[in-house]
Amino acid sequence: MNLNDLKIIVTGAGSGLGRCFAENLVKAGASVMASDVNKEALDALKTELGEHGKIETFVADVSNEAQVIDMVKATAEAFGGVNGLVNNAGITRDGLMVSKSKSTGEVRKMSLENWQKVIDVDLTGVFLCAREVAAYMIENDVKPGVIVSISSVSRHGNFGQSNYSAAKAGLVADTALWSKELSRYGIRTGAVAPGFSRTPILEAMPEKVLDKVVSQVPLRRLGEPTEIWQAVKFILECDYFTGRCVDVDGGLTL
Ligand SMILES: NC(=O)c1ccc[n+]([C@@H]2O[C@H](COP(=O)([O-])OP(=O)(O)OC[C@H]3O[C@@H](n4cnc5c(N)ncnc54)[C@H](O)[C@@H]3O)[C@@H](O)[C@H]2O)c1
Repeated sequence: MNLNDLKIIVTGAGSGLGRCFAENLVKAGASVMASDVNKEALDALKTELGEHGKIETFVADVSNEAQVIDMVKATAEAFGGVNGLVNNAGITRDGLMVSKSKSTGEVRKMSLENWQKVIDVDLTGVFLCAREVAAYMIENDVKPGVIVSISSVSRHGNFGQSNYSAAKAGLVADTALWSKELSRYGIRTGAVAPGFSRTPILEAMPEKVLDKVVSQVPLRRLGEPTEIWQAVKFILECDYFTGRCVDVDGGLTL
């Protein structure tokens, strides 16, 4: 698929990787609906990219069904259709499932709230956006179509990330099964699993932990957003790719 034929939604476009994907898509000639919960970030993005091509913005929480439905409708109205999605919005709420304090002996647990919040955004959000975009494409006989979802190296099971690892593994499984369900309608799917990449999401990680992680990456550095974009671009463009996950993690094994 040519990038300049895309009428595509990018979720979580206000920051980090999503911002980079939106920028590269706009500059490549795609019509981009940049979506996020952060309106100020979207306004800034539109001001910056408006002169480079077609960009509209929509404030939506990917875990809110009604808002996702409205986002897809607004995109179709703005561009006369929707044929692509980058499911990028994601959050972390790290913590051990259960741990015992060395000093007090207290046993602490990951709260159900922190479990649920990450599942809601990182897994249910991916499902809702994929479902609505696929439903639009099937109802309107749009083909070809493509859905890319952003997983993580943490999908293999990262210490302190029961919630996030489950969500990021789950979306890779769904990417595979959606390829089976949606190929008959001309819709391809793909996932990209970045390693630790230079974006604001890493600010939640203590520096000591981050330094330790980087020391375990064979390439000994963080990934750059443009390097993750290269994999997203490949999936969008390659018409023989579907159902798989591309790892872009500097060779890190968790
Ligand atoms: N940066 C990394 O090291 C890394 C590694 C692997 C995977 N990822 C994944 O890449 C994606 C982007 O991460 P990032 O590093 O750019 O993070 P980021 O925090 O810089 O950006 C995430 C964006 O998503 C938005 N967002 C949060 N909750 C939302 C919701 N409910 N609905 C809509 N938008 C919402 C935020 O406002 C923000 O603009 C995430 O899915 C993340 O899990 C990142």
